[in-house]
Amino acid sequence: MKEFSSKEIRNIFLDFFKEKGHQIVPSSSLIPADASVLFTSAGMQQFIPYLSGKVIPPYQRAASVQKCFRTSDIEQVGSPFHHTFFEMLGNWSFGDYWKKEAIELALELLNSKFKIPNSKLWVTVFKGEKGIPKDEEAVKLWIKAGIPKERIKEFGFKDNFWGPIGEEGPCGPCSEIHYDRGEEFRMWKCDIEGCGPNCSCGRFVEIWNLVFMEYNRKVKSKGEAGNIYEYLPLPKKNIDTGAGLERLACVLQNKKSNFETDLFLPIIKKIEEL
Ligand code: SER
Repeated sequence: MKEFSSKEIRNIFLDFFKEKGHQIVPSSSLIPADASVLFTSAGMQQFIPYLSGKVIPPYQRAASVQKCFRTSDIEQVGSPFHHTFFEMLGNWSFGDYWKKEAIELALELLNSKFKIPNSKLWVTVFKGEKGIPKDEEAVKLWIKAGIPKERIKEFGFKDNFWGPIGEEGPCGPCSEIHYDRGEEFRMWKCDIEGCGPNCSCGRFVEIWNLVFMEYNRKVKSKGEAGNIYEYLPLPKKNIDTGAGLERLACVLQNKKSNFETDLFLPIIKKIEEL
């Protein structure tokens, strides 16, 4: 497989979405303007006013490479694929294109620019939970786009429903694209039947999350055992995607771990030398 440097990956991603009519937006600060959270943890954060429908966006499509700091995965930091700081490649539709185009765009970029064939890809979809229906539409679209039914797996809220950031805000079911690195990359014992996406053995790595943002989560009532939420439809359906640069680099540089990519290795080598 052709290797891509991290610089090439960033440029190819942005050029592709620019060509597809997206406004390229610079990364926002790691300290967000919205003080309800301490750090920017996702590419969508700077776009929340557009996604929630509170502000009319100056463009309907955007793409960025966002610097992120995430503490929710902190127990997993040190695994080959988890970091506190990372860069998120993302594309957005603010009430413009929807699931079909989001899926087609992601596969077109992976297949034609990064030369990853569909045969290496598995996807996950929302199985339906807490009154929100199963994402049947996504299943049909993935099959139509060339991912066979056997490689489409269903998960619930924990894995396939994304957001909001904080208590309230835009969120929705998501589909994750996982890359199958092959048997030889299995590092730990499988913990799910049949192995596949979300197995912790290390064979599969999630490379891209496509969020179909159609709900606004609101606190319905506050309770000691936890808040009760309601999911109201957003004024417009939006697309919010995020692909981890470090994970894509790991796959596209055929490395065992993100730390062996060109994003980390030169720094590690310099530290060794010093
Ligand atoms: N907001 C989603 C995520 O952070 C997609 O970018 O995974």
